[in-house]
Amino acid sequence: MDTHTGTLFQHPDRNLAMELVRATEAAAIRAVPFIGRGDKNAADKAAVDAMRKFLGTVDFDGVVVIGEGEKDHAPMLYNGEIVGTGRGPACDIAVDPIDGTSLTAAGRPNALSMLAVADRGSMLDASTVFYMEKIVTGPEGIGVVDLRQSVGENIRALAKAKGKDVGEIRVAVLDRPRHAQLIEEIREAGAGTRLLLDGDVAGGINAARYESRIDMCIGIGGSPEGVATACAIKALGGLIQGRLAPKTAEERERGAAAGLKFDYVYGADELVRSDNTFFVATGVTDGELVEGVRRKGPIIRTESIVLRSHSGTVRRVVADHLAEKWLDEGPALRATL
Ligand code: FBP
Repeated sequence: MDTHTGTLFQHPDRNLAMELVRATEAAAIRAVPFIGRGDKNAADKAAVDAMRKFLGTVDFDGVVVIGEGEKDHAPMLYNGEIVGTGRGPACDIAVDPIDGTSLTAAGRPNALSMLAVADRGSMLDASTVFYMEKIVTGPEGIGVVDLRQSVGENIRALAKAKGKDVGEIRVAVLDRPRHAQLIEEIREAGAGTRLLLDGDVAGGINAARYESRIDMCIGIGGSPEGVATACAIKALGGLIQGRLAPKTAEERERGAAAGLKFDYVYGADELVRSDNTFFVATGVTDGELVEGVRRKGPIIRTESIVLRSHSGTVRRVVADHLAEKWLDEGPALRATL
């Protein structure tokens, strides 16, 4: 919808993310009993249920573009599901109730709950192709860093733009066998790696965020995560590019049939064709981006990051939740918090 045609009401013109943060807070709190319990599906389910419940209370007309998969495989928050009260702006929504389900199940740092929202019809639906090659940097990378260049060239260009020595550049990469050569090339270029066990959404945001210790995030991760990260990067003013990385010829065919382009570098404006994006994340376990959920006497404390592209704001929201309101799950939550 266009604001110039007088249909302002259809536009997410308030900071929706300040309301949506309740959904990621709830998902993070509900995931806590499952931290370190070895059951990533149970952790995910608890987070999905909580997120869905809270999304239902927010005044917007959301359709899940990036969710927990297809309807038959995901009982809730499946692609195409309608969320929100139905009153208010028409939006696309990408949800990842836990980015880092394995981290949560293992009791490792850097798991978070996240969602992203943008104008209806603006998010790239890349659900037919699981993986995407991505590069993310802060604003200094715009115009000098490009996925079509070698990683060495990108590191040198970014170092120059940031006024740093190449040796000071830190590159976040998912620690996967598929990245063995990429990791070698980063180190040969003279930069240092920060290997991520999981969670390239946080990795990408950290690469773009002011005063972060990470300068660049690169490599192949989930396509949905790429689109969600783009919503966040639009608020941070950084650079993000993505190139689909199908694993099989069938996946490529399915993607082509869905209108996706291959051997093509998608820019931020193609990953999400809206300048009105919102991104929210709450820490499940402690991480570089946000702290995890913790119990402090009578309260449960959450830390979240709330980003809005229209205003270019990054807010940190520390919320204290009265613990007794959340202890209906009995001893598990009590013991783990
Ligand atoms: P989930 O916890 O939602 O499964 O995602 C974790 C994650 O590390 C993402 O951040 C990343 O984009 C993707 O998985 C990478 O996939 P893979 O683990 O197959 O390399």
